[in-house]
Amino acid sequence: MGSTALTAQQETRLRELVTECKDVPGALLQVLEKAQEACGYLPLEALALIADGLAIPLARVAGAAGFYPFFSGEKCGRYVIRMCRSAPCHVNGAAATLRALEDALRIKVGETTPDGRFTLQAYDCLGLCDRAPAVMVNDTVFGPVFSGDVKEFLTGFE
Ligand code: FES
Repeated sequence: MGSTALTAQQETRLRELVTECKDVPGALLQVLEKAQEACGYLPLEALALIADGLAIPLARVAGAAGFYPFFSGEKCGRYVIRMCRSAPCHVNGAAATLRALEDALRIKVGETTPDGRFTLQAYDCLGLCDRAPAVMVNDTVFGPVFSGDVKEFLTGFE
């Protein structure tokens, strides 16, 4: 997990989230999800604040954040592109789509464009196999996205 300090505004928002969610069943995942929305990622300071607020061990919070691939300890771009690379998407051209995304964005999987706009990630099944090759951008689902579609696809996020 990263170690960049939170802004005062982010810290206030995290405290609000903990207060809003602490009596809700499954509070930890909800808070992590909303905290990532608020901060763009989950630095160690955010995890510590959440652990403290929910009165649960930091190791458990860090474990949950590390277990689910949608949570990130690194600062991501404004648009996080998640490309599926599992078999059903693979046979429909996911590898070519991923290469086209890397070429168009001029970054590799796991990297963020220098302007901070896009982060490119590759995942196992996104649960969208009927849309293979499937892509998510932040919380929005797309697919099928073929390699030849990539240039036009990206213009939607300029
Ligand atoms: S295999 Fe790609 S979304 Fe399931």
